[in-house]
Amino acid sequence: MRLVILDNYDLASEWAAKYICNCIVKFKPGQDRYFSLGLPTGSTPLGCYKKLIEYHKSGNLSFKYVKTFNMDEYVDPNNAHILDGNAEDLQAECDAFEKKIKEAGGIDLFVGGIGPDGHIAFNEPGSSLVSRTRLKTLAMDTILANAKYFDGDLSKVPTMALTVGVGTVMDAREVMILITGAHKAFALYKAIEEGVNHMWTVSAFQQHPRTIFVCDEDATLELRVKTVKYFKGLMHVHNKLVDPLYSMTEEN
Ligand code: PGA
Repeated sequence: MRLVILDNYDLASEWAAKYICNCIVKFKPGQDRYFSLGLPTGSTPLGCYKKLIEYHKSGNLSFKYVKTFNMDEYVDPNNAHILDGNAEDLQAECDAFEKKIKEAGGIDLFVGGIGPDGHIAFNEPGSSLVSRTRLKTLAMDTILANAKYFDGDLSKVPTMALTVGVGTVMDAREVMILITGAHKAFALYKAIEEGVNHMWTVSAFQQHPRTIFVCDEDATLELRVKTVKYFKGLMHVHNKLVDPLYSMTEEN
């Protein structure tokens, strides 16, 4: 596991965007070789998405041969796969989503966010760590946290969601989890300093061979000083992953 600690939200977002950009460029996507990218919703990735749009506009990054799973707004809609929470048969919708991921050859990089209760995607506490895409009842903590997207009105917040499973994300070749803000500090502590536990589903990624947690200083507030110093001491190594920032030529 890598833990990348940046001073603040903007720098963490930029680091994550550079990492995604380099992964895609190095993959050399093409007509017969799409890059499959898993993307989170929520407010955390917005800064990262803004940077990706910048790289795209400046011609450094093309999404022409990128397939996204979950929500994304920069690519051809044919290549963007979003779970439909209004589908008539919700389980069939979830099964079809898993099938599409398989058909795409699996996910190359799954970018995730977490909730203060340690959920990854909407895998709330107690979710099976081998779960697949399915319908989940949301925890009250999540409903409260999401009320900001529904005029602060709890009665408007959906109580159920379709979500990829922990197992779905674990199958990705690489996982990058964005964690920013003091309200996520306890979850980051549970994610990396204690054991794998289904009550903190993000902790499952301790057992993934390639996970990068990207966080800001505020999110490290519950970590041991020793942990923070150790990973900060590795920043010169981690920064080589994003510096130089690779660029695509237009024809790519
Ligand atoms: P947030 O949501 O990025 O808006 O904090 C993350 C989540 O609940 O998974």
